[in-house]
Amino acid sequence: MIDMHCHILPEIDDGAKTVEVSIEMLREEKRQGVKSVVFTPHYNFERRSIEAFCQIREESLQKLKKTREFLDLMMSVRLGAEVYYSIKLMEQDVRPLCFEGTKYILIELPTNEKPYGLMHTMTSLINQGYIPILAHIERYPYFEEDPLELYELVSRGCLAQVNAGPVTSKVPIVMKYIKWELAQVISTDCHSMGRRRPNLKDGMAAVKQKLGEQYSLWLEKNSRSIFSGKYIDIPVIKRPKKIFGTWR
Ligand SMILES: [Fe+2]
Repeated sequence: MIDMHCHILPEIDDGAKTVEVSIEMLREEKRQGVKSVVFTPHYNFERRSIEAFCQIREESLQKLKKTREFLDLMMSVRLGAEVYYSIKLMEQDVRPLCFEGTKYILIELPTNEKPYGLMHTMTSLINQGYIPILAHIERYPYFEEDPLELYELVSRGCLAQVNAGPVTSKVPIVMKYIKWELAQVISTDCHSMGRRRPNLKDGMAAVKQKLGEQYSLWLEKNSRSIFSGKYIDIPVIKRPKKIFGTWR
């Protein structure tokens, strides 16, 4: 398995507070069968420049890389970011924020309301060759109220990610997003060894149990493709239908 959304890099955001915690989290990932990880610390255009962020991120990575424990884990890691939505995504060179060596970029949206210009900004990124991955889509009530909004974005070429936590607890909308193939990626979004700990194994097991093995295998395959910078196959995206007041 591959984890493509996590806050394991030390001392950079609200994730791992120390290098020791990072190592513990990576050990736990490996214990669960995760072989590759994309580090995605929070990035916000309002707080610092992309250049400054990349420098801090590199320093954080080096703290980890110079430990014996990290080398012993022999995990394949890449740099990335969880970029808070801004129309600046259209205006600046966002290549350094993508998953290293790929055109995939993880984007977090506001939870209170759908941001103005979302479709326009995403379309602009796609036209430049980027592939936006919308982070933890189960957190956005505006998609849950009207999944066709998400359907439109995915139809245009966006991807979407769900967190393993709500998948494990089988939150109904999360399972629907996967079943509709509107969510193609599952990741942990782990922040520590406490409440938001690495949990991909449980998430995958829940998908397999609730939706069948073809879905868990599909999610694993998607992650492998994204990690290696290839396109993923989305055979037929299922258009959600409202039947007797419920999205099905
Ligand atoms: Fe996150």
